[in-house]
Amino acid sequence: MSRIPAVEAIPTGIVSLADHEQHARSRLDDNAWAYFSGGAADEITLRANREAWDNILLSTRVLRRLVGGHTRVQLLGRTLAHPVLLAPVAFQRMAHADGEIASAYAAAMQGAGLVLSSQSSMPLEQIAQAMLGEATRGPLWFQLYFQHDRGFTRELVQRAEAAGYEALVVTVDAPSSGVRDRERRVGFKLPEGISAVNLAGLPPPKPVTLAPHQSRMFDALLTSAPTWADIEWLKGVTRLPILLKGVMHQDDARFAVVNGADGIIVSNHGGRTLDTTPATARVLPCIREAVGKECPVLVDGGIRRGTDVLKAIALGASAVLIGRPYVYGLANAGAMGVSHVLRLLRDELEIAMALCGCATLADISADTLFN
Ligand code: FNR
Ligand code: LAC
Repeated sequence: MSRIPAVEAIPTGIVSLADHEQHARSRLDDNAWAYFSGGAADEITLRANREAWDNILLSTRVLRRLVGGHTRVQLLGRTLAHPVLLAPVAFQRMAHADGEIASAYAAAMQGAGLVLSSQSSMPLEQIAQAMLGEATRGPLWFQLYFQHDRGFTRELVQRAEAAGYEALVVTVDAPSSGVRDRERRVGFKLPEGISAVNLAGLPPPKPVTLAPHQSRMFDALLTSAPTWADIEWLKGVTRLPILLKGVMHQDDARFAVVNGADGIIVSNHGGRTLDTTPATARVLPCIREAVGKECPVLVDGGIRRGTDVLKAIALGASAVLIGRPYVYGLANAGAMGVSHVLRLLRDELEIAMALCGCATLADISADTLFN
């Protein structure tokens, strides 16, 4: 039996995702704060993600009849109550003792999708068990990092399939982690007892002795990094739909579709991998254009308001994911905090839709943006 997360009150005065972030700063120590809130290098992309949504303006429409409106959306053959999913975020027990299971309960309560990280700090089976039985739940997907041992990677995929995960989100933008200055400044380390439990048993990589002219990156780390051929291999070992997360170039989006991807997530990893890449809001329309109307295209990075969700839909997104905001909710009040974050975002989305004269997500278009 899964442990039911504790019911905690939302601290008074928290009415927005920004409030959750501010409050979470006092709940997390410097180590956890650097990990969860930090970005790569100078954090230019981290800031750009937010600023890009802020700089898009909305066009209000009046006197339309909106009765019967809703936020439902079709995605990979399922109807979602609304277009917000929880992005894969590693090591959630560092934010709260209930960790990923609290996020799963909250997602189920709020009809949100959940993407569990390969680096989850709780067993993937336990999360699936918590979520799958809930009638109101959204989709449950597993985020896959290819491991250097392909046999282990295959077993991980098989475990996710057997546990009931409904799609694989293959993160392709982080064959190397970014330059994480904030983490290095605090000497970040995982606290005792928190680890990537689903990767336990992974055989260590073969030690390589590098000659002086060789590179730790190109001659060691990248020798086991996945390539397009591995996406093809993965299609051969799983029956689950595959989404590629971290696609930021039109040609890669086209390759993804040609190589059989069932969806794309436009993401710069929340500004955590390569700094000075563009905001996802700016790249999203090009990716939508490259893959056409039918392919599911999701986006994440800097989404903090219902208006941001509406803007993403207007720029061609099928749905959006949030990362840090729900971890802050988790830190503040466990499952109730995550649930609150999702509820705030959905309420704000409905308000924005109503004031822009959109009864459904299908009514949202480029015309909903002011320019
Ligand atoms: C992440 N992200 C991430 N992505 C992924 O594919 N696998 C992972 O394990 C993680 N881990 C992770 C940890 C932390 C602390 C953060 C903040 C992010 C990236 C995540 O899925 C998502 O792309 C971004 O977080 C979206 O940006 P926002 O909403 O945080 O601005
Ligand atoms: C990160 C890795 C886990 O962003 O994706 O920290």
